[in-house]
Amino acid sequence: MKKVVLAYSGGLDTSVAVAWLREQYDVEVVTLTVDVGGGSLRAGVGERALSAGASRAYVVDARQTFVEDFVWPAVRAGALYQGAYPLATALARPLLAQLLVEVAHREGADAVAHGCTGKGNDQVRFDVAVKALDASLEVVAPMRIGMGLSREGEIEYALERNIDIPVTHASPYSIDVNLWGRSIETGVLEDPWVAPPRDVYAWTVDPAEAPSPVEITLAFEAGVPVGLDGRSLEPVELVEALNELAGSHGVGRVDHVEDRLVGIKSREIYEAPAAIVIHAAHKALEGLTLSKDQLRFDRLVAAEVGQATYDGLWFSGLQANLREYTRTVQQAVEGEVRLRLDHGTATVVGRRSPTSLYDHALATYDAGDAFDHASAVGFIAIFGLPLRTEAGRRDGAGWATPLLPDLPLEVVDSEVEAGAVPVG
Ligand code: ARG
Repeated sequence: MKKVVLAYSGGLDTSVAVAWLREQYDVEVVTLTVDVGGGSLRAGVGERALSAGASRAYVVDARQTFVEDFVWPAVRAGALYQGAYPLATALARPLLAQLLVEVAHREGADAVAHGCTGKGNDQVRFDVAVKALDASLEVVAPMRIGMGLSREGEIEYALERNIDIPVTHASPYSIDVNLWGRSIETGVLEDPWVAPPRDVYAWTVDPAEAPSPVEITLAFEAGVPVGLDGRSLEPVELVEALNELAGSHGVGRVDHVEDRLVGIKSREIYEAPAAIVIHAAHKALEGLTLSKDQLRFDRLVAAEVGQATYDGLWFSGLQANLREYTRTVQQAVEGEVRLRLDHGTATVVGRRSPTSLYDHALATYDAGDAFDHASAVGFIAIFGLPLRTEAGRRDGAGWATPLLPDLPLEVVDSEVEAGAVPVG
């Protein structure tokens, strides 16, 4: 190993890792910091990397790419891990891994490095994605192979070497953040019975303290949001605006015990106001614009994409195929959705679309009903045929157990029949 590109956040761990890698392996260290929004970019990060001993520091603004090429495909697919987690951290990993590989090529480096521990999903995502893009690159994770310093140890290590360290107080939590959400774990949260303390949350107000409810309108084209309340917005702006707005109404908190790829159940808190609203709106619009069969099949795709994204398999052939599939299907998902933001909830209250499959003339019970009621009789005769055939074999009783004997019953007879006594 001669030259390594390190994924560098500018935090204490990765600052120490720069020096540690140089000393341990006698290698040149180039750092890569990627801005994926949500406040993930620390000021002065490039200078800090150099102070830690990096020979060169790359800082990349990837916010737009992150939303368009990683977040939007997940929205089109309706991908949530275990039905709850909008995958903010998981979606940023393949982007980071790809940039690590590209910088490594540009720099002629033979290795990449990241600051993940040996217990989480992120190490798997980085390693697997890097190897999928360039199997010849070595992947080093100092935290996994013995750098193992306590926070105090790291501070001392940095001070001894004149490394500029971030002046943050020790957070009681481990937090990862990007435009699509905040992921918070560890500390008191490790007891799944303990309610999350107030200081866990930074993007959302306590739902009980939210202002009066508001109604918003989200516009979609080809399965992704393009406008808010009548204003067209660029992807990054739109997600930021929605995080702000929905967060101010307490929308976007997720408290979830999830199954990590490495076999551990773990309690996670997420804040993802925009993600929660966008997924809810998207689903409502799909209900209006996709066929029953597309909706049925898309549930399988959503589960598959959610799992694979979580598991770090973004660059697999199947995932590339499924992204193409959803892109095609989602061409029809266009229109507007109204939602009410009300003390922590985002409820769909209306939807409309130029590509709608909803036919009022067919659906209505009022005048103008175009549905052919009489033909329902023939339809039901054929539809119910196999069930009648099957029931006939068992003398009509089918598989139903008698209900009447066990239910409280009152029988009221007509007065003509004298002496009727209600049975109770
Ligand atoms: N459990 C989430 C995931 O695997 C989030 C992990 C975030 N990391 C952190 N240091 N909080 O995607």
